[in-house]
Amino acid sequence: MPLTEEEMKYSAQAWEYVENGYYRRLLGRVPGIERCRKVLDVGAGPGGWLLAIVEMLGSGVEISAADISDDWLLLAGEKLKSRGVEKAGLSRMDAQSLAFEDNSFDLAISSLVLPYVPDEPKAVREMIRVLVKGGKGLLLFHEPYFYLRRLFKKGLKIRLSAAASMVSSVVYIFTGRKIYRRTFQSRQLIERLLKANGCRIVYSDRSKAGIGVLCFSKDSFLAAGAGHRAS
Ligand SMILES: C[S@@+](CC[C@H](N)C(=O)[O-])C[C@H]1O[C@@H](n2cnc3c(N)ncnc32)[C@H](O)[C@@H]1O
Repeated sequence: MPLTEEEMKYSAQAWEYVENGYYRRLLGRVPGIERCRKVLDVGAGPGGWLLAIVEMLGSGVEISAADISDDWLLLAGEKLKSRGVEKAGLSRMDAQSLAFEDNSFDLAISSLVLPYVPDEPKAVREMIRVLVKGGKGLLLFHEPYFYLRRLFKKGLKIRLSAAASMVSSVVYIFTGRKIYRRTFQSRQLIERLLKANGCRIVYSDRSKAGIGVLCFSKDSFLAAGAGHRAS
């Protein structure tokens, strides 16, 4: 299915984050980023993060994009090509079961994908599994405030969608099921999950719009596919 108007708008906005340096600022706070040679973007969407990576680390870095949507992958491929990035491994993949070997990447990014994923802990554990020991992860997600402020925005569609997200998030917390695929994440739960899987929080941040940021380091092999669930 071709990308919707809303998705195309999102894509333009996401590329602005490359232009205005927002992605580079967050990436710049990842310790040892200059040594990363293999980088994975899970749920890459328009591919802006990967461009920011290449701009930062040079064309020698090996970049891979995984996304559940062929249309997003196509767009990411075109966008990257238009900026001179030809060598990107683009694969259709579910964040909940990545077709990569354990301990494969120095850095894994997953930005604003958890809200759409049916089983969030599964996706986070997969991200940890594919990291090398000492590898870094960068997770961006929606805090409750993201939807709360949208409840008061102009436009009935936005407000209804935000209300559905709030309800769906609460249902997800109690039942583990998403009745609407845009939920907020609990920073505390993600932190607990990361720690239970041998990771250490390196930094955390929150934008004014309610986007949560967690950077972590995989400090032990405990994580890989161990099947823990944060309780
Ligand atoms: C809001 S966009 C974020 C795109 C990009 N990461 C960014 O920050 O600009 C969400 C992306 O997650 C992808 N996605 C949703 N569910 C997914 C899943 N289960 N596995 C992999 N990708 C998924 C969508 O196709 C879309 O590209």
